[in-house]
Amino acid sequence: MSVIAIEHEGDIAVVSVDNPPVNALSQALRQGLWDAVGALDVDPSVAAVVLICAGRTFIAGADVSEFGKPPQPPHLPDLVARIEGARKPWVAAIHGSALGGGFEVAMGCRFRLAAPDASVGFPEVTLGVVPGASGTVRTPRLAGAELAVELVTSGRPMGAAGAARAGLIDAVIEGSLRDGAIAFARQALTRPLPAPVSARAVTAPDASFWSEKEKAVARAARGATAPLRALACVRKGVEASFGEAMAFERETFLELRGSEEAAALRHVFFAERAALRPAALRDVEPLPLRRAAVIGGGTMGAGIAAAMREAGLPVTLVERDAEGVARGLDTLRGIFAGNVRRGRLSEAQAEALVRGVTGTTDHASLAEADLVIEAVFEDIDVKRAVFDAVGRVCRQDAVLATNTSYLDPRSIAEGLPGPERFIGLHFFSPANVMKLLEIVPTPQTSLRTLATGFAVARLLKKIPVRAGICEGFIGNRILKLYRAGAEALVRQGIPIAEIDAAMRDYGFAMGPFEAQDLGGLDIAFLQREGARAAGRHVPETLGDILVRAGRKGQKTGAGWYDYVPGERRPQPSPAVAELLAGEIIAKTSMSRRAIAEHLVAEMAAEGRAILEEGIAESPAAIDLVEIHGYGFPRWRGGPMFATGMRGNAGPRGA
Ligand code: NAI
Repeated sequence: MSVIAIEHEGDIAVVSVDNPPVNALSQALRQGLWDAVGALDVDPSVAAVVLICAGRTFIAGADVSEFGKPPQPPHLPDLVARIEGARKPWVAAIHGSALGGGFEVAMGCRFRLAAPDASVGFPEVTLGVVPGASGTVRTPRLAGAELAVELVTSGRPMGAAGAARAGLIDAVIEGSLRDGAIAFARQALTRPLPAPVSARAVTAPDASFWSEKEKAVARAARGATAPLRALACVRKGVEASFGEAMAFERETFLELRGSEEAAALRHVFFAERAALRPAALRDVEPLPLRRAAVIGGGTMGAGIAAAMREAGLPVTLVERDAEGVARGLDTLRGIFAGNVRRGRLSEAQAEALVRGVTGTTDHASLAEADLVIEAVFEDIDVKRAVFDAVGRVCRQDAVLATNTSYLDPRSIAEGLPGPERFIGLHFFSPANVMKLLEIVPTPQTSLRTLATGFAVARLLKKIPVRAGICEGFIGNRILKLYRAGAEALVRQGIPIAEIDAAMRDYGFAMGPFEAQDLGGLDIAFLQREGARAAGRHVPETLGDILVRAGRKGQKTGAGWYDYVPGERRPQPSPAVAELLAGEIIAKTSMSRRAIAEHLVAEMAAEGRAILEEGIAESPAAIDLVEIHGYGFPRWRGGPMFATGMRGNAGPRGA
């Protein structure tokens, strides 16, 4: 079946693209458009052409199945030039998304129209490349250098209204896009046509503009190179001739396509796609989710409730007493107020979200919930008592989940009537922000319950990773080794601040010690103390020494670093140097790069053990855990990928 159809509405030809699911720019589609230009150019009955797409979106972008393969003609830059050079003016009618190559095709058209909810943008940098078919050269000609820099270096899409204000879109069409576009095309024929985009003038900003942008882009990129290369392309795009700039962009695109960074980002992209719908659950229907309940309204419970509300579910929040309820609801309000401050929610939306939460101490209200998530204290007796009560009041088919970090889900579920509906759903803090969801079935968990766990992740727009049962599951288990590795370096005489700086240079937002200061050293300390109290041998860590000296992190004004009250900037601490003096056994020096590579190798070594034990299903799953739960730089592909363990995420087995 052809992916292109041509219809005639009087003297307007309507070229419809139908290449499900997202009208990706496959070779067949490129060829179809190429041929359409040729045919319509010589059709005397046609005065103008409307380009529109079937299905849920305009041409959403490149065809991911062609990633990593040698490009086949017609090449996209040639196609865009051919559309621009057509004898009849083409009008792009955009609904859904026009991203990357999709928007480049639209920029080849003489006009661009959009439905009100459409968006446009250049996500190429998120795959380690730059736009390869004039995105960095035509965008500044349409909307100026500033916006072009923003779009191509961030990868973030832009809504139709903003795009229209900026000049990327000529008009937003309410109602039928097809009819509106045909009417627009007819109108346009009554006036002189604007110049093709490539022939439009652009003002080049001065050198200080570029040095400012370089600094800002480098800061946001955390070591990734594609955003800076995209910036260089836009600069060329406004300073050089159109032809020179196109050649520069193409060369950059082709070079980056073969880069390690692009390979890493493709790996993560395919791993994420595979994670959302595991093959083993393809035919399993999850439980429909209409109402959720969260038990425990502390840090995690409130965050989980917020995430559920943002996904549209009504939520019951159960606490142990009235103060607990009030505190939980306050925390929730605080979360939404933060989103209002950041411009992500309106006041009215925030109020509606809060109204959708019913705070209570009464377990009877759980009878209506399809999904119950427990986030009470990390204490096996408290958790068991909760599930004892929950098991009695909940519907038999409701899914019951624990958010435990370290406890064995099997012992939490012991004695629960209907253990097949029980599962571990391990969220990360802050739960309404962090993308990772570890999904931990017990041997008794049914496939339907497991499928519901994955459905929860999709609903909350999180990345699910299935984990087996062990202390700390995948993420916290690797974290423990990472921290131990960092402490071992301190014992070898490497300064704490140097280790943190090394990991920041590697691409983490924070090093291991500053991150502990932010989260608090006491949580892991208490966990170790608990294990010691239970008679297990847990060696004294450097963190234990600090906590025993009252240094629990930023909240006590002192942890691995000192903090000036009211400030979050870590200051190297003479007190810590003194406390740990007896523990430092060498005076080693190591480059930052060697430090980072060493610690990543430690993570990967634990990752290998996790794989051998069957706790994680693939190296890619471990990479997703580290990227979405622990701030591992995405552009490095995760610890397994970065250390050469590359398996099973992409269509090429890449
Ligand atoms: P938290 O101490 O902030 O909150 C626990 C809440 O549970 C308190 O508000 C308490 O009043 C309430 N609660 C205690 N017993 C209850 C009962 N019987 N019925 C109803 N509510 C009860 O603790 P946090 O940090 O929210 O942790 C909760 C769980 O989430 C723990 O299992 C923890 O291991 C896990 N977790 C924590 C993470 C974190 O970063 N804090 C990350 C991932 C999981």
